[in-house]
Amino acid sequence: MSKSNYIRLDRFLSNQLNISRNDAKELIKKRLVTVNGETARLFDMKIDPVSDTVVSEGKTILYRKHIYIMLNKPAGVICATRDRLSETVLELIPEELRREGLFPAGRLDKDTVGFVFITDDGELAHDILSPKKHVEKKYFVVLEAPITENDIQAFASGITIDGGEKCLPAKLESGSKPGEVFITLREGKYHQIKRMAEAVENRVLYLKRVRIGGLELDGSLAEGQCRELTAEEVRMIKE
Ligand code: URA
Repeated sequence: MSKSNYIRLDRFLSNQLNISRNDAKELIKKRLVTVNGETARLFDMKIDPVSDTVVSEGKTILYRKHIYIMLNKPAGVICATRDRLSETVLELIPEELRREGLFPAGRLDKDTVGFVFITDDGELAHDILSPKKHVEKKYFVVLEAPITENDIQAFASGITIDGGEKCLPAKLESGSKPGEVFITLREGKYHQIKRMAEAVENRVLYLKRVRIGGLELDGSLAEGQCRELTAEEVRMIKE
């Protein structure tokens, strides 16, 4: 590891434990932190986060450079980092997974439910959101009226919304009941599915994101619940 990847112990503790820098210093001052078995005495001691073993209050800290979370968003919550009026998706993240720099990678409307990916990894978020990377987002949609063969063709060749904006080709598939469909997009325009439905004289009654890339929303997560992703799942999300 290059020297530039060494970080100060107080900063490491503050990042990894989601505590303030002052609280991190307090732990060191109280001699509650060890590095490779030795009691740490200096706030600015340089540590290698990958190879050094840091123990705080008897617990070994498992270093994670970034954090990756799948949230099953309920309706009424907004995809933003903060808001004066509404609850945000970040407020649904439990304390132990919170970190500075977390944000939702992509927005669902306030009334849309389902898979929101939350991370502090800006590079990966950019890859998922960039229309050039073509990462798929799949939605379960309840429409007011059943779809037609013409609608499927129109989605496949690229719908024009609001009389001008052209969408990339999208997949429209029937679900198990009339009006229930799945729509798969490779981009994320504002209110895109609602506007696509309007373009074929239909209306969205219910919208849920069920997959990002190759990763399905975990069916065991109730609305409002979230969990950390495994390294394999993070890889799948990029597919
Ligand atoms: N399309 C929409 O119209 N709304 C969403 O939240 C996501 C896709």
